[in-house]
Amino acid sequence: MEENIIPHNFSITQQQRSDLKNHKPLLVWFTGLSGSGKSTIANALEKALFEKEIHTYLLDGDNLRKGLNNNLSFSPEDRTENIRRIAEVANLMIDAGLVVIASFVSPYREDRENAKRIVGYDNFVEVFVNTPIEECERRDVKGLYAKARAGEIENFTGVNAPYEAPMAPDVEVDTTVVSVDEAVVLVMNEIKKRINN
Ligand code: ADX
Repeated sequence: MEENIIPHNFSITQQQRSDLKNHKPLLVWFTGLSGSGKSTIANALEKALFEKEIHTYLLDGDNLRKGLNNNLSFSPEDRTENIRRIAEVANLMIDAGLVVIASFVSPYREDRENAKRIVGYDNFVEVFVNTPIEECERRDVKGLYAKARAGEIENFTGVNAPYEAPMAPDVEVDTTVVSVDEAVVLVMNEIKKRINN
């Protein structure tokens, strides 16, 4: 079927949309264990960008899994599909000219590589929230580690499913060492280099 789909070229280009916003688009991808602090930092980052009049949108695992991805489980295949859809959605938002912040466990290296391929390497900033599992488990904000340890959740990342750490993230933060505000500054420095603002 795909060979019968011919993309249409519309009049307004990505460049024009970016020019209107006064900054380039970007995908800032947070990866790390559940409870590592990804969404907290992502949220503070979006506030900081918004204050600088940068056009943003935040995509978050727990929210996306209630809508677009509500038919996906945590099996390796479904996680791959979860990340693929997010990357395609982010790619549309990049085309729209936004700085997209994505916060997903995204435990598989290959899936994150695929996301980079989809949006283009120049458009991708990888942020590894490298909080030790002992700390994530101690926090256990959602009570999911306790459930997973009790055998009530299968495929729980860090307990009975793997997490493949990034080899060369653009930014790495351990929330037992840096504060949320410090983490935002580190990510912001990387973003500034890319969006010409
Ligand atoms: S991903 O692995 O497919 O990238 P995603 O970020 O969308 O995961 O969703 C992770 C969130 O779902 C976690 O923050 C946690 O609240 C919840 N969750 C429920 N079951 C699991 C599980 N088996 N493994 C990891 N997270 C889970």
